[in-house]
Amino acid sequence: MPDLLELENVGAGYGETVVLESLSMKLAAGQALSILGRNGVGKTTLLNTILGLTTQHSGVIRYKGRDLGRTPSHERARAGLGLVTQERDIFPSLTVDENLRVALRAGEWDAAGVYALFPRLAERKKNMGNQLSGGEQQMLAIGRALIGNPDVLLLDEPFEGLAPVIVDGLVDAFRKLHQTGRMGIVLVEQHAELALELTERAIVLDRGQISWQGPSRELLGDPEQLARLIGLDMAA
Ligand SMILES: Nc1ncnc2c1ncn2[C@@H]1O[C@H](COP(=O)(O)OP(=O)(O)OP(=O)(O)O)[C@@H](O)[C@H]1O
Ligand SMILES: [Mg+2]
Repeated sequence: MPDLLELENVGAGYGETVVLESLSMKLAAGQALSILGRNGVGKTTLLNTILGLTTQHSGVIRYKGRDLGRTPSHERARAGLGLVTQERDIFPSLTVDENLRVALRAGEWDAAGVYALFPRLAERKKNMGNQLSGGEQQMLAIGRALIGNPDVLLLDEPFEGLAPVIVDGLVDAFRKLHQTGRMGIVLVEQHAELALELTERAIVLDRGQISWQGPSRELLGDPEQLARLIGLDMAA
């Protein structure tokens, strides 16, 4: 079986600006991969590149064995690449329920499944997108990606800026998704230890290049190397 997602020597950026250089990685079905690194190293750009939202300068991105080439972003989404952006992108003037249903794509996940995963969202069903707390917005953003029944779920700093108790709830949801699903998950995260605990493999980016790649366990067990790679303040 081919890897679900494979990047081979991918270079990308915005217009002529180069952000990522010759990046290679693989993701198998059911696997979770952390993307770690300091601010501005290119983590979001990597997710955007997989979705076709940047200028790809070189290399190949294969999804289910097929070269995505110049496949436009909306087609990549329809083919099963689901992105939860750092901005969350909730429609402010649609209700929670409407926000969910516009993203529906046939498959295992439906609104009932999302509400079972996030009971808090079920309580807020009739509220407008702009009436939600940060944590609720994040649940809705993840729910919207899930209801699109992605084969690859790309999460850009899903725990950022949220209270610890909210993060705990989202971490529980992440574990459920990962343990029960066949989805491949890419988790961009600043909290390295947490991300490493949640994933099997990890990539550390530094100025658009991979500075480390391997089993998450290995990096988790080597705090000195982790601190060297991403900085002391980020490692905790
Ligand atoms: N739309 C854009 N146009 C031009 N350059 C951009 C654009 N978005 C990001 N960049 C540049 O690309 C580089 C990588 O940014 P990116 O947002 O991918 O980093 P990041 O690792 O996600 O950072 P953060 O941790 O702050 O989210 C930065 O130098 C940034 O200034
Ligand atoms: Mg980012």
